[in-house]
Amino acid sequence: MKKLLLSVLVAFAVVSCSNDSNEESLDAINNDGLQLAAARKCHANENYEKMLLNPAFQQKVLEIEEQTQRFTNEFLSKKKPAGVGGGNGGGGDDTTPPADNIGVINIPVYVHVIYSNANENISDAQINSQISVLNADFRKSNSDAAQVPSEFAGLASDTEIQFNLVGVTRKSSTRTSWGTNDAMKSAANGGVDVVDPATAMNIWVCNIGGGILGYAQFPGGSASTDGIVVGPQYFGATGYLSAPFDEGRTATHEVGHYLNLRHIWGDGRCNRDDFVSDTPTSDRANYGCPSYPTTNCRSTDMTMNYMDYVDDSCMYMFSTGQKARMRSLFASGGVRASLNN
Ligand code: ARG
Ligand code: ZN
Ligand code: CA
Repeated sequence: MKKLLLSVLVAFAVVSCSNDSNEESLDAINNDGLQLAAARKCHANENYEKMLLNPAFQQKVLEIEEQTQRFTNEFLSKKKPAGVGGGNGGGGDDTTPPADNIGVINIPVYVHVIYSNANENISDAQINSQISVLNADFRKSNSDAAQVPSEFAGLASDTEIQFNLVGVTRKSSTRTSWGTNDAMKSAANGGVDVVDPATAMNIWVCNIGGGILGYAQFPGGSASTDGIVVGPQYFGATGYLSAPFDEGRTATHEVGHYLNLRHIWGDGRCNRDDFVSDTPTSDRANYGCPSYPTTNCRSTDMTMNYMDYVDDSCMYMFSTGQKARMRSLFASGGVRASLNN
């Protein structure tokens, strides 16, 4: 069991860059980037592959995955008790959503804006608009939630995770693009140091370059680089923005990774998994704004999921299984439990 899981994880990372014959980008477990150009290159970071060779890191990833499986199985087999959101209590019925005893999770957030011109020094209003989008998307109060097709409507979930802005750092720099090697996360390299990642989520806003919208570090990685990075013109829903990535969904997607979600297609062909049971398998990312239904691997793709690669206006749900996967990090002993406050 342990062996099997580990080999799946290792295969996932190793194949992620040499990819099954096409040019499609595959980002690593703890890092990703999206190119706007038609031909995508692999942004899998070398760090991740190096990290996976480290037995201590392997062990950490395994532990997280085991805790996740335990929690998820339990979560999905339970329903809300009587009186909470309706339903008939105890074992519940098909109409009551699953529940745990964690309650609504509150994550404090620090935003570090590193800018080389006035546009990149985004306004407080733009930062606040991003926090609002995160809260809407993770609480399923996004106005486009109603667009989820009936095939998936029962799976679209309020994750009961929310975000609270506690601080903004601004730093001027002559550097115009930062890449994906985490330099922006270190004052010694001209960036801004992480604020205690055990108690807050860090978001660096700076130009990454190469058409990359954002990237994230998965749970289990180094504390000094923990958090997400988003380009200023893809951050928030008002201000200095670039369509079609101007509705704040890059951060929603990257926070999904930060909370251990994989891409909806599992970064591989039909037999590759995202470790979420209610998201249909696919053999590719979807781009632009796909028409419904889009069928791959003999099932309808959940193209409107935040963890696909579609335009901001065409992604509007997390599934129940993704909710369970994220929330498992906050259960007793979970790697992100100390964030909840
Ligand atoms: N860096 C992310 C990725 O490539 C960006 C995806 C965000 N998509 C979006 N529509 N904003 O995984
Ligand atoms: Zn991604
Ligand atoms: Ca799945």
